[in-house]
Parts: sequence; structure tokens; C-alpha cells
Amino acid sequence: MQEQYVIKGGNPLVGEVEIGGAKNAALAILAASIMTDEPVIIDNLPNVRDINVMLDAIKDVGAVVERIDNHTVKICAGSITSTHIDTENIRKIRASYYFIGALLGKYNNAEVALPGGCSIGARPVDLHLKGFRALGAEVEIASGGIIEASAKVLKGTHIYMDKVSVGATINIMMAAVMAEGKTVIENAAKEPHVVDIANFLNSCGASIRGAGTDVIRITGVDKLHGTEYTVIPDQIEAGTFMVAAAATKGDVLVKNVIPKHLEAITAKLLEIGCEVEEFDDAVRVVASKPLKHTSITTLPYPGFPTDMQPQMTIALGLSRGTSTVTESIFENRFKYVDELTRMGGDVKVEGNIAIITGVSGYTGARVNAPDLRAGAALVIAGLAAEGITIVDDIYYIERGYEEFDEKLRALGATMEMISDDKEIRKFILRVS
Ligand code: EPZ
Repeated sequence: MQEQYVIKGGNPLVGEVEIGGAKNAALAILAASIMTDEPVIIDNLPNVRDINVMLDAIKDVGAVVERIDNHTVKICAGSITSTHIDTENIRKIRASYYFIGALLGKYNNAEVALPGGCSIGARPVDLHLKGFRALGAEVEIASGGIIEASAKVLKGTHIYMDKVSVGATINIMMAAVMAEGKTVIENAAKEPHVVDIANFLNSCGASIRGAGTDVIRITGVDKLHGTEYTVIPDQIEAGTFMVAAAATKGDVLVKNVIPKHLEAITAKLLEIGCEVEEFDDAVRVVASKPLKHTSITTLPYPGFPTDMQPQMTIALGLSRGTSTVTESIFENRFKYVDELTRMGGDVKVEGNIAIITGVSGYTGARVNAPDLRAGAALVIAGLAAEGITIVDDIYYIERGYEEFDEKLRALGATMEMISDDKEIRKFILRVS
């Protein structure tokens, strides 16, 4: 049976929350861990669905995967027997594309199912494939939706990215790590997780310079060795709790974060009238005054992250005046707006711009999570709303948020994960 979040809204979130490891960094690091025959220990892995799908795929090709605890894994890929990855689950996630860069970079061969992932736009992979071809690989999309890439030898080269792409930057970086000679990636993505994967690969003996800037320079090395590595904190999980504090008029200390990675989110929260206090590895968000309107455009890092766009729209929907949110990365990331309208939100979408007229409050409704971040956003709307909200399809949320409901309950939220209509009725009776 499908589970739902059932939420009784209206409580300000108050307290402390501990942020886990960055999902999108961890997914790429897991793929990269098969590029060495020696053991790799990865710590601070979020225990979420997409990570477990990646680990299963790593096992399927013959690597030894040992779960040391919920957040630590040991991978030994010396025993890999196949460069073919295609399972039902792997077709559902986006990060499967990292296996192409990793396998091609290590074995000069990869056959990986076309990626899936949240339906937030067309999400082509042309830049990934163009980069692999520039390194000397032959790449084609074979029947059955398998990307086949192979090379006699990979040779370092100069690659200009036509568009800033997190996935393509990381994938090309992985493919180039053991290529002959030097590779330069220009117009590279600068997201914190690009830097984290470069740091991971460097800790395995790679030579990558410039990650976090527009130009990444890679000098090919013969092989990689084992390492122990801790994944950075999740910028988007942290941002989600920061905005949840704002939308519920709460006071939340968000712990285990890198405040620098949160600057774009912090800046917008300050603009709309929240107080944000930064500590070495925590930020505190206090929303004691009415929220003000603002304008936001999603942009590659250090701009405002597209993965925070739905959550921020929820907060702006409760502010005074009219705000605009321009989505410049993905063309289909406003699917949650119809759901928010049913909760009393006043948002009109024109092309890639949402025009948000603040309302005095949302009212509870039954809504569907259309994708991961929009799902989290609707939970925030439910927490801020009067009455009961039921969020369906929370499968999406579980892809990227570990113990989301537990963490929210610890901050005072009244919510449960329930799969049974009878239990939902009991919950509603109990909290009404
Ligand atoms: C990554 O997706 C993340 N996914 C996304 O996280 C995130 O929204 C996105 O980066 C932007 O930060 C993973 O890390 C698994 P892109 P990715 O390549 O790599 C276009 C979440 O909620 N493009 O940076 O797919 C593309 O269509 C998710 O955690 C091409 O045109 O994003 C988009 O307009 C959702 N051709 C833009 O570039 C390509 O070959 C940026 O996409 C590749 C991308």
C-alpha cells in the first residue's frame, strides 16, 4: 500500500535539526568508487532510496558492498565482472548516468540504461555524450535504451560546455581522470558537489584542479587507489528546513551544514524578513515578523538553486505583496502549483515565471507530490496550513530526504506517515 504524509498544520517549527550527507554528491561518489580496485570507505551517506538503488547496481556488476552502518559503506570494486548496468530500479534514477563516466574512465567500456529521475523537464544527456566523444569514445544509444560507450584509449582534450551542467561536468571529470594527458573543462558547473567529487577522486590519487571554478583541469593518472571519504552536508536538505522554519513562522537551528553553500538561500530569507544567524557549521532561521515579497531566479551555483525553487515559492505564497520566481534551469518545475492552488495559494504560471500573490494562510487539502523537491515543498505548505493536509506519492520525497517526518516531528510538527485510510481517520480524530 502507498504511504502518505498526513499533517495537521499550524505549529511553528522550533528546535534543532541535523542535516545528512549530500544526496547528489554521494550518488556520484558511489559511482566513482568503482574506479579503483582497492577498498573505498564512504561516510555520511544519506540513507535514502536513490542511494540504495546505486549500491544495488554496484553489487550487481560484481563489486563487494559492505554496509558498515546506516551512513557508512565499504566498496571493493576489484572483483567487477561486468560493465553492463540495466535494472528496473536503475532506469528510475538520474544518477545512473554517472556509471557511464566511471566505467568508461576505468574500463574504456560502459553499457548503461538511459537515466530516469524526476520529471521536471526534457533533461537531455547530449552534453555528457559530447564530452565522452571528445575524449575519444564512440558513443551510441542502442536499442532498448542503453547508452553504449567504448574507447580504445581515452585522450585528454579541451572541452567547452555549451550549457552549465552539473551531471555532465562530473561525468566528464570521471571519464577524464585516467585518460592520457590533460583535459580542460570550460564553463564547468561550480556546485559544492562538483567540488566534493573532485576532492573524493583526488583522495584516490586523481589530479583535478579548479573544481568550484569555471575551468577544471585534469591530468590523467595511471590508476586510482582506495580512500576513506566523508560526503559534504546536503545543501538542499538544509535549505528545505530553513524555508520550513520561515513558512511556519518558526525558529530552527539547522546543524551540520556548510553555511557558505547556503548563502543564496540565506540571502533570500533575509530579504523576505527572516533573521538568519550563521555559525561555523550551523545556521539558525527565525521568522518572527510577517514575510515580505521578493523576486528569485534559479541559476547554477552560486545562484539560487533550482532544487530550492518549490520550497521557496511556498514561503513567498505566505508573504505580503507579489513575488516572482523565474525557473531558468528546468522547464517543467511548476507542477506543484495546481496542488498549492487547492490549498488556497494564489500563484499564476506564465512560461517559466511564477507570479505569486501572498495569501494570509493556506488551508489543508489532499495533494500529490509531483517530484522530490515539489513534494517536500507541499509538506512545508501542509505544515503552515490550517487543518489537515494529506500528501500522496511520498515515494518521491523518500528518494532524497532521510527520515523527513521524524526530523519534522522533532521540531514540533504534527504529522505521520500512514498507509491505511482507517489510520488516517484515527490520526485526524486524535489531532482535531
Ligand atoms: C542535477 O541534475 C541534480 N541531479 C538535480 O537534482 C539538480 O536539479 C540539477 O543537477 C541542477 O542543480 C543529480 O545530481 C542526480 P544539469 P542534472 O545537468 O545533472 C540541461 C534533485 O531534486 N542539460 O545541471 O540532470 C538540463 O536540461 C535533482 O535532487 C542539457 O541540455 O542537471 C538543464 O536545463 C532534480 N544537456 C541544465 O542543463 C545535458 O546533457 C542543467 O542540468 C545535460 C543537461
